[in-house]
Amino acid sequence: MIDHYAVIGNPVEHSKSPQIHTMFARDCGQDIAYRRLLAPLDGFRDTVERFRAEGGRGLNVTLPFKEQAYRLATVHTDRARSAGAVNTLRFDADSIFGDNTDGAGLVRDIRENLGITIAARRVLLLGAGGAARGVLGPLLAEAPAALTIANRTLTRAQDLARHFDSNVHASTYQELSGNTFDVVINATSASLAGALPPLPRGVYAAGALAYDMMYGTKSAVFLENARAAGAGLTADGLGMLVEQAAESFFLWRGVRPRTATVLAALRAA
Ligand code: ATR
Repeated sequence: MIDHYAVIGNPVEHSKSPQIHTMFARDCGQDIAYRRLLAPLDGFRDTVERFRAEGGRGLNVTLPFKEQAYRLATVHTDRARSAGAVNTLRFDADSIFGDNTDGAGLVRDIRENLGITIAARRVLLLGAGGAARGVLGPLLAEAPAALTIANRTLTRAQDLARHFDSNVHASTYQELSGNTFDVVINATSASLAGALPPLPRGVYAAGALAYDMMYGTKSAVFLENARAAGAGLTADGLGMLVEQAAESFFLWRGVRPRTATVLAALRAA
């Protein structure tokens, strides 16, 4: 019997995950079915249980259910614990395995696809919500020289920094003035409201990477602005999307899919 997987969310109709996993499966010769699963906002657990009872083997979890998925999982990886959220569920015989592959996807995209080293570089993470927390552990595991979290609401950045180690500094946007960074990652939801994080001038070091965790039109304003402000290289989060999916696929199937052709196909579309 064919193994069933899905991406669960609300909304979920625009998710590219079915396309991505179908391409991975074809490339790896794995016989799986992957679909979208819309859960009612108050019906995450019921929808997951029904999917599992019908033989579902695993789920990707997207907004707004990643924290609920964390609570549903009975076994957590360290990176799921540090994210406080789960984006990958695997239904094993006696347990529900929960992991978070977002940070690994981001790091892999920056390191492998963009060829940028995070180790010993100065990293600036914009935002202190769920998206930022989800990637902090894997970013720190790369051993940056220092990592600064800038947020509009300073206390949220401070709470997040406290969660991690002493190499993490919390900052307001104004306090960034006079500092430069090699890697600047936008993990805010500002662009959803057509806004920009209020970065002071001069934060981009020569050749710095500006990375937006969103992709396509949602990331365009931040990245255009970053280029105008002196970033040497800009990238949207499409590569992160593909890489976090590859990591999920590996957790389910034990095979690591190739990502370059999938990323190229998505870009072409
Ligand atoms: P997510 O799960 O996407 O991270 P979230 O937890 O609501 O969503 O967090 C959104 C993040 O985007 C926060 O860091 C938020 O800043 P505040 O904590 O100060 O609210 C940030 N954000 C949203 N709109 C912003 C804007 N216009 N300018 C700067 N930061 C913004």
